[in-house]
Amino acid sequence: MIILKSKEEVEKIAVAARIVASSLLALKEYIKPGMTTLMLDAFVEKQIIEKKGIPAFKGYRGYPATLCVSVNEVIVHGIPSDRIIRDGDIVGIDLGVIYEGFYGDAAITVPVGDVPEEVTHLLEVTEKSLYAGIGQGKVGGRLSDISHAVQSCVEPEGYSIVTDFVGHGIGRSLHEEPQIPNFGPKGKGPRLKEGMVLAIEPMVNLGRPDVTVMNDGWTAVTSDGSLSAHFEHTIAITKDGPVILSKI
Ligand code: MF3
Ligand code: CO
Repeated sequence: MIILKSKEEVEKIAVAARIVASSLLALKEYIKPGMTTLMLDAFVEKQIIEKKGIPAFKGYRGYPATLCVSVNEVIVHGIPSDRIIRDGDIVGIDLGVIYEGFYGDAAITVPVGDVPEEVTHLLEVTEKSLYAGIGQGKVGGRLSDISHAVQSCVEPEGYSIVTDFVGHGIGRSLHEEPQIPNFGPKGKGPRLKEGMVLAIEPMVNLGRPDVTVMNDGWTAVTSDGSLSAHFEHTIAITKDGPVILSKI
């Protein structure tokens, strides 16, 4: 069942999502070559607590940190560690926050220092595919219109969509129905209704789509070692169209 949210509930999710967005923005400015991924986690946790939010990922199914930090070939769910960020890396930062019992969730992938033009393009296409998906978040449309829009943006570029992980409904839980794949035909699945709140999150690989999960049970990497990008927003479906609650 897809849980519809009242205006008041959407506003609480929006507060959570704004804490996520402003913390990601601060992190984007903070991140420098030579830092460890654990330093990013400590920085963002402080940001969230100052803003009266609660880290949503920590303790979720045993996840040990506030942030997921996914460097280069890591697709998602990179656990903060003493891994050092180097000039030329791309760093996925994914953050969830709880505010008054409601969740917000967003992610960006940032280039650190100078990255090749080809890599900048991967980031641009992935972010563009997220916005294409969001653009289909219209009352009366169908869920798979979102999925199809993402796929249509990515595949003509020769990149691969990760199919092992999907977007999700969000509200009083981090993951609610429906699941939102980043691929599929349009015109399928539930109709989109006012009050739905969705986390859309394309993950795009430069190489093959195959995923390997490391022995820690979390870190998901590209099986071929190619780079991967991830962008995510929490959006509300309204009668005036999609509203991005985690807008940076
Ligand atoms: N944005 C991711 C998701 O929605 C992050 C989850 S990390 C976890 O699935 F630790 F909370 F699982
Ligand atoms: Co998510």
